[in-house]
Amino acid sequence: MSAKRSSIHGQWSSRWAFILAATGSAVGLGNIWRFPYLTGENGGAAFVLVYLICVLMVGIPILMAEILVGRRGRQSPINTMYALAEEEGLSRYWSLLGWMGVAAGFIILSYYSVIAGWTVAYIFRTGSGLFIDADATYSKKIFVELISDPEKLLAWHTTFMLMTVIVVSRGVKSGLEQAVRFLMPALFILLLVMVGYAMSTEKFMDGINYLFVPNFEQLAEKNFFADILLPALGQAFFSLSIGMGAIMIYGSYLSQRSSITFNSFTIAIADTTVAMLAGIAIFPIVFTYGLEPGGGPGLIFMSLPIAFGQMPFGTFFGTLFFVLLMFAAWTSAISLLEPAVTWLVENKNMSRVKATALAGVIGWLLGLITVLSFNYWAFSFEFAGVVKENGMFDIFDILTSNVMLPIGGLLIAIFTAWLMARKSTIDELGLGDSLLYQSWRFAVRYIAPFGVIIIFLNAIGLFKLIGLVN
Ligand code: TRP
Repeated sequence: MSAKRSSIHGQWSSRWAFILAATGSAVGLGNIWRFPYLTGENGGAAFVLVYLICVLMVGIPILMAEILVGRRGRQSPINTMYALAEEEGLSRYWSLLGWMGVAAGFIILSYYSVIAGWTVAYIFRTGSGLFIDADATYSKKIFVELISDPEKLLAWHTTFMLMTVIVVSRGVKSGLEQAVRFLMPALFILLLVMVGYAMSTEKFMDGINYLFVPNFEQLAEKNFFADILLPALGQAFFSLSIGMGAIMIYGSYLSQRSSITFNSFTIAIADTTVAMLAGIAIFPIVFTYGLEPGGGPGLIFMSLPIAFGQMPFGTFFGTLFFVLLMFAAWTSAISLLEPAVTWLVENKNMSRVKATALAGVIGWLLGLITVLSFNYWAFSFEFAGVVKENGMFDIFDILTSNVMLPIGGLLIAIFTAWLMARKSTIDELGLGDSLLYQSWRFAVRYIAPFGVIIIFLNAIGLFKLIGLVN
């Protein structure tokens, strides 16, 4: 029955189209901007190690579950959850999962667009040769000048949001495939060039050790669950684009014959590789030029330009880098808007253009809060043992990555592994009742839900309260 369902929004033109689009969604600022700065804030290798475990044991299984649900439902996440819940004889309140995803999508998009705006701004700053022979003090000054000027941030945020709205209003499937097919490999090669430069710096090995050799003494000072595991899990959700329906909607255009398992592993491997390369490129520069690894969301904008100012053809490579990063952010932002837009088209009978314009305006307005978080409205607070300095921006980021996405993932895991008929999931995954299928089921049935629940209980201090941990 469900195999006959088809999407009113069409299907991908080939199997690779899905992998490319989903990888385009996954690879973005999360890998190159967020991963390095969180790693720096959280002290390095222990965080990286826990992050990798989260990707493997929670991220990939939920990625598979989300694609599975999307393909079976073939509608916007809200309507998909509604339809599947009905089909499996469950409460229609499951559609609330779709609603939470739409809300998370708007919040993430709102600040994502502001940060992507910094990337666009840096195309011009690097392109004009501003960073030739720059040192850390100078690159910091340029960055602070940008973020302390709300008018500049507003202009770039508006530019980026318009770019996103234009693509989404035309339907995400046409241009996306081509863009990702060429730009992703280019970004990958450029990251290799930067790793090559990092290898020539004095403190290359310091950077590598920082990223890959855990310092257990430092770990002992932290609350493992709340200070390391929670942000690492949040980053796994954020980076893989899971927990809000973005991957679900891409899955809804997926052909019935395509292998969900193969696709998921391909996407996750590409995503993780890009993050690791970004880390390897950035930390040697951070140490060589005496920057602070825990310097927060400006980390890549303060460190990489110094490298571009030093290396041969640096102005060229630097400009190209920020152009490609802008594209990577663009293909991610598109997927944040898509679930809301498809719902408006399905339920409110709106044209795609109108729906996108409306959604874009909501994201743009919310983005104003982030614009002001870096200047007039800045305030600081402590979270997971880290001082966060950018008020509402940090709250939006924490609320989505560390709360809404994991809850979304938890619900998807419960839905597919505990409530959907086992046969339905066997049908969709096409792995038969093999060991691989059983491993997936074990991960979504036990590891993902209990992992998320334990982390949450710890984070809200419940375990401390009842004396289970100190
Ligand atoms: N994964 C993207 C990145 O790393 C961001 C992103 C796109 C996202 N779509 C998402 C994050 C959906 C969470 C949910 O840049």
